[in-house]
Amino acid sequence: MKFKQAIVLLALCFAASLHAGETDSKPLYTVVDGTKVDPNTLKGFKTWRAAACDRCHGPNQEGMVGPSLIESLKVLTKEQFVVTIRDGRLEKGMQSFGKDPRVMDNIDHLYAYLKGRSDGAIKQSKVTAIE
Ligand code: HEC
Repeated sequence: MKFKQAIVLLALCFAASLHAGETDSKPLYTVVDGTKVDPNTLKGFKTWRAAACDRCHGPNQEGMVGPSLIESLKVLTKEQFVVTIRDGRLEKGMQSFGKDPRVMDNIDHLYAYLKGRSDGAIKQSKVTAIE
């Protein structure tokens, strides 16, 4: 990786960890060039695809039947996020994924991916692995 890319990467890691209010030094996600992500964040994207959240939240997370997750993740805490996915809000049309291990086993990765989208660090819905 080029020196300039490395600096951008470091800056993003720093911003991401600050944003997430994490106390340990591991960043929530790592992004290069806006579309390449670390392995766990990539798993988050694959989980998003596998669970077809886009049916209701739109292909770019910008909202359809369900709200824009770009906006929601600026406000929701991680715990509120996890509870919403686990239990759903059945009366309001948000389904429950608590019994879906594809989603629940990857909930941290899904959160990292969507937080990266919400923060604007991940520039488009589709991401690939950092080479
Ligand atoms: C069948 C449609 C549907 C699917 C599929 C769906 N959602 Fe939702 N989701 C909704 C609706 C509708 C709401 C708004 C509920 C409300 O009004 O409180 C919502 C709310 C949410 C919220 C809370 C937003 C907020 O601002 O409070 C999150 C987070 C969320 N969904 C994430 C997901 C994720 C991640 C997936 C895939 C694993 C998913 N949803 C799949 C319909 C859906």
